[in-house]
Amino acid sequence: VDIYGSERRNSRGINLNILSHWLPLKAELDKHMDARWTGAPLVEGKRLSGDARAVMCPYELSHQVGEVIWATAEQTHNAIDSLAAAFPAWNATPVDTRAAILERTADLLEKHMPELMAICTREAGKSLQDGIDEVREAVDFCRYYAVQARQRFALITLPGPTGESNELYLQGRGVFACISPWNFPLAIFLGQVSAALVTGNTVVAKPAEQTSLLAVRCVELMYEAGLPGNVLALLPGDGKQVGSVITSDPRITGVAFTGSTQTAHVINRALAARDSAIAPMVAETGGQNAMLVDSTALPEQVVKDVVHSAFTSAGQRCSALRVLFIQEDIAPRVMELLKGAMAELHVGNPFERSTDVGPVIDEDARGNLLKHIETLKAQDRLIGETPLPASLNGHFVTPTAFRLDSISQLDKEHFGPVLHVVTWRNNTLDKMIDEINATGFGLTLGIHSRNEDTALHIDRRVRIGNVYINRNQIGAVVGVQPFGGMGLSGTGPKAGGPHYLLRFVTERTRTINT
Ligand code: NAD
Ligand code: ALA
Repeated sequence: VDIYGSERRNSRGINLNILSHWLPLKAELDKHMDARWTGAPLVEGKRLSGDARAVMCPYELSHQVGEVIWATAEQTHNAIDSLAAAFPAWNATPVDTRAAILERTADLLEKHMPELMAICTREAGKSLQDGIDEVREAVDFCRYYAVQARQRFALITLPGPTGESNELYLQGRGVFACISPWNFPLAIFLGQVSAALVTGNTVVAKPAEQTSLLAVRCVELMYEAGLPGNVLALLPGDGKQVGSVITSDPRITGVAFTGSTQTAHVINRALAARDSAIAPMVAETGGQNAMLVDSTALPEQVVKDVVHSAFTSAGQRCSALRVLFIQEDIAPRVMELLKGAMAELHVGNPFERSTDVGPVIDEDARGNLLKHIETLKAQDRLIGETPLPASLNGHFVTPTAFRLDSISQLDKEHFGPVLHVVTWRNNTLDKMIDEINATGFGLTLGIHSRNEDTALHIDRRVRIGNVYINRNQIGAVVGVQPFGGMGLSGTGPKAGGPHYLLRFVTERTRTINT
């Protein structure tokens, strides 16, 4: 909406008000798009050497984005030695000093936004809007956790008899492992790392294999912001190898993990198998996210929110809508609008402003999604799909929608632009809710109903972490919609919420006989 209160769009539907901010940013981005980035393990503030491997672009398959060196098991052990030695001094550093480093990091992220967005697009295939959101969220995490840490670390004075002083305060736990996914290569990576550091832990960070370059650039900016090199080590590498060396090390005192439910189980078992101190694990994992729509909903608004929730970021958000449940009375109208809306989406180069859906992350992801699509097409379940331009040369999967009889037909999370639609008969709402609960996942749920009683009834009955009523169900904002699931979707506490930092600390009670 512009200053005159109206939205101006061109014939391709592009918001012209955004363009006025966009053009200067695009000029800056252009300067970085053909850069070659290099990455390496970062330990004690320095790059380590080793064999480099090529990083290729997911939407221009012949374009090399850069190269990265993966950490060895020996480098990983040495990094943890160094982090364990650095812990006492960092833990004793005033919280205000640690928080100020996060705030300076946020300033540097904003200053380097075009470069970070360019890496995000080139390495992860993120659209430009996703790139803006990614940097914005990373900045928000830094500033939010800085404020939270200052509040939480304030000493609490407790009552006691005359001649005795009692105090309660927080401390870091030790060496924290932060293991992150490729789909939010900056925001989630930095969200975990900033929380662990500001609470006094030293940190070993393991980024996803697919997106190490962005993590390397981010850690370098943190060092530039004044973070001592010996309190944060970055170890790019294979999850099974580097990841398992980290999680089986007895000196790791906690793990913040975001990724698949399957990997969370592997890490949980690795931590449990150690004879060392019992380490807490924060796990934020996958979802089988539904939207429940009843016959009082507005079909046009439903379809707008469905398309946004299911296909933004090529469906590669843990929060993304996977199964739409529509009450039978309005199902034909919603399906018709949905088909039309999907036909209008543009799949293509994520660097183009007109692109709605970019590539998926790699060939494995594409292969798995295409297999799922072929299976459902063979069962004659297709509702609609977006045309895929023939000129594309990348890991593209066209947005597709299928009819299902029940959510229980889905064996797992299909992490891409594939939407499933179940039509529910009148008087079966509770059965639908129970089937959603029975998946065991509990991340996001959308509800569309103009009947407040129905919406609140659904809200009370579901076991879901984030419920969105009469809007889309993605894009949680730090400090506004604290984010995280339950059951197979995660342990809590919620990222970007007031309780998150508490999982990274221990509490100390000090009693002095004065
Ligand atoms: P993934 O589980 O394959 O990998 C995540 C991280 O774990 C990577 O860094 C990987 O290298 C590492 N890893 C793999 N095996 C390991 C092991 N044995 N030990 C230690 N570390 C290991 O997940 P992904 O494909 O990178 O991300 C997509 C998944 O993440 C989806 O399921 C999505 O729903 C989920 N996700 C959840 C949230 C949330 O907040 N709930 C947010 C983003 C993504
Ligand atoms: N926090 C991200 C979202 O809400 C995953 O989409």
